[in-house]
Amino acid sequence: MFAGQRIVLGITGGIAAYKAVELCRRLVDGGAHVSPIMTSGANHFIGETTLSALASEPVQKSLWDERNPIPHTRLGQNADLIVVAPATARLLSDYASGRSSDLLTATLLATRAPVVVCPAMHTEMWEHPAVQDNLAVLRSRGVLVVNPESGRLAGGDMGHGRLASTEAILAAVAGAFIDQDLAGQKVVVTAGGTREAIDPVRFIGNRSSGKQGLAIALAASRRGADVTLISTAPSAAATAPSLKVVSVSSAAQMRSAVHEVAPSADVVIMAAAVADFRPVAVADQKIKKANGVPQIVLEPTEDILGELGANKPKGQILVGFAAETTDVESNARGKLQRKGADLLVANDVAAPEVGFEHDTNAVTIYGSDGSSAQVELTSKDAVANRVLDAVVAYRLTLDV
Ligand code: CTP
Repeated sequence: MFAGQRIVLGITGGIAAYKAVELCRRLVDGGAHVSPIMTSGANHFIGETTLSALASEPVQKSLWDERNPIPHTRLGQNADLIVVAPATARLLSDYASGRSSDLLTATLLATRAPVVVCPAMHTEMWEHPAVQDNLAVLRSRGVLVVNPESGRLAGGDMGHGRLASTEAILAAVAGAFIDQDLAGQKVVVTAGGTREAIDPVRFIGNRSSGKQGLAIALAASRRGADVTLISTAPSAAATAPSLKVVSVSSAAQMRSAVHEVAPSADVVIMAAAVADFRPVAVADQKIKKANGVPQIVLEPTEDILGELGANKPKGQILVGFAAETTDVESNARGKLQRKGADLLVANDVAAPEVGFEHDTNAVTIYGSDGSSAQVELTSKDAVANRVLDAVVAYRLTLDV
């Protein structure tokens, strides 16, 4: 399963460190070359000799080794994947803030390989906003997080925070390897809601958070694509080193950014909620209420997806989104045809936990060939991969 892959296994100081021994053995059994790194905390829980005996090379623990100078760059650059199991709250914090005070954190900064972190800690620590914020930062940078499970914790406590099962970790590691089906493809993704200025402080906007578009961009990048993300909510993605991020605000800015990159793209995914109307005139100064209720006259914006559909280069796959509240299927199919898209991802934003601002989504993906695929309520990351699966499947029908 992992034949020929070079995997760095990072182990930090938690009781679950003993499970990393089994993980190491299973990775080696699967054909991987495993280079283990232990933090000084991990050393309190498991013996270095045990791990060195099972891994493909001896455990490394220090940034400072006279026989092997700058070990972190060798380990980071040569790795095909890094998995940290267990990952303590300290490791997550250091990694999210870019600290490189030990060999493991320095190696994490010195790699371009996919990284999988498997947190394990007491429930109170797991639920602490600081820990969750650090995880959100890491996820936004494309790090895969294998969430912990519920069960017995250190000291006999029961609760959430136990290291995920070895099977779940192995599945995540395997998933990170096999998803290179967009290698060499240029993918453009738009995300977020546009803002149409009324005056210097006010705008007409919508409730799109940009989370689904960001999830698609990150998933495409993990699957090997060269991704440009054009977003009105770039802050979460600004630090994702694998993405080219273009920050825009209005529909007009989004339109020119899209038209600049779309002609050479293999796939364009319009996940953004682009305003359909904008004020005809934007006041130079803040509109004062003393002057009475303003009359704001609107004009239509250009339909970017429609323009792309009308000028689609041969072989390009164009994906639209539709946020509907009624008659989802007929509206979506009409839109698919009208805008000249190949695929249309429809979500019923009136349903609970779906669409705007949520971390979960449920969609149906309609194809111009009459196909449809339903994705039940799941994470936006999982929806992102299903949308990309549909793109890859559609590409196959084009090549035939
Ligand atoms: N879109 C676009 N440019 C616009 C408006 C929308 O590119 N000015 C794209 C969105 O990114 C999304 C899809 O079109 O991919 C959504 O279309 P939507 O605005 O919902 O559809 P409409 O045809 O305007 O239909 P309606 O207003 O009836 O929902």
